[in-house]
Amino acid sequence: MELLVQPHGRMLQVSAGANLLNVLREHEVPVSYSCMAGRCGTCRCRVLDGEVHEAGREIKLTNPLESAYVLACRSTMIGDCTIEIPEPDEVVVHPARVFKARVANVERLTQDVVRLRLKANRAWSHSPGQYAMLQFAPDLIRPYSMAGLCGDELIEFHIRLVPGGRASEHVGGSLKAGDEVRVSGPMGTAYLRTRHEGPMLCVAGGTGLAPVLSVVRGALQAGMRNPIHLYFGVRTRADAYGLAWLDELADRHDGLRVHLVVAAGSADAGHRSGLVTHAVAADWSGLGGWRVYLCGAPPMVEAGTFLARRLGADPEHIHADAFYTAGT
Ligand code: FES
Repeated sequence: MELLVQPHGRMLQVSAGANLLNVLREHEVPVSYSCMAGRCGTCRCRVLDGEVHEAGREIKLTNPLESAYVLACRSTMIGDCTIEIPEPDEVVVHPARVFKARVANVERLTQDVVRLRLKANRAWSHSPGQYAMLQFAPDLIRPYSMAGLCGDELIEFHIRLVPGGRASEHVGGSLKAGDEVRVSGPMGTAYLRTRHEGPMLCVAGGTGLAPVLSVVRGALQAGMRNPIHLYFGVRTRADAYGLAWLDELADRHDGLRVHLVVAAGSADAGHRSGLVTHAVAADWSGLGGWRVYLCGAPPMVEAGTFLARRLGADPEHIHADAFYTAGT
């Protein structure tokens, strides 16, 4: 059977039952992947035509107006098909790792946000904007985004403490320097696209600031001089943290504009008021040619995605991993 890979236009001969990710790798098609187990989302691609079997569901496309996203690592070839993979300049490959780390320190940033820094027992790699699973106990595993960069001495996470949440009680109550945490990752598709030359919009809600810091730090490290408009939305002024880090980044890059947006209370000299997505909507009439990074709670990410599309951003250039806090 035949597999047509777009946008390259490569036609591959494949066997029935072959794993889609394996086929792409064997033919040296540039494709992102990490966990190879359906967890990280980095191997996501789009089926444009034909048949694929993906982890319990059969995709059979006959209408040229339809398409379906699948995880290549979980997909099996069952007939001729056409897929589209992300642009080659976006491909990142960081083999998933599971390793032990020790808590270096736990620091309160606000009343309910903790900065957790870990010292890994081995080297690993990730792209700016990705996340990892942290296992504090056998049945206590949560996803958190890295705030720093690959190669940093310590791995940094920002954790919001949710009343009654088991992980929150553990991190905010008993976790201390020297404790062991098991880390697995990296995961996530909202990583920095370093070859993009146009403007970037980064929208962070609450502890979604962590991956946004990573994206901006990564952009500066990569020598990107793109205009970057960073919107940081918080509930109250007291919830705003990391402002000194943002000032330091703005000092390093003339093109970085930081907008602090506070939902409750009136505007002040240092911030605007209202919803962060409303601030973006008030400032911009078009986002064509932009890359958009959205990091925060699912309602903010959904509203931001809807807004970015309405303002003309290419849906393929809107990068978001919803930052779930429920039950933490
Ligand atoms: Fe496919 Fe992680 S490599 S989901």
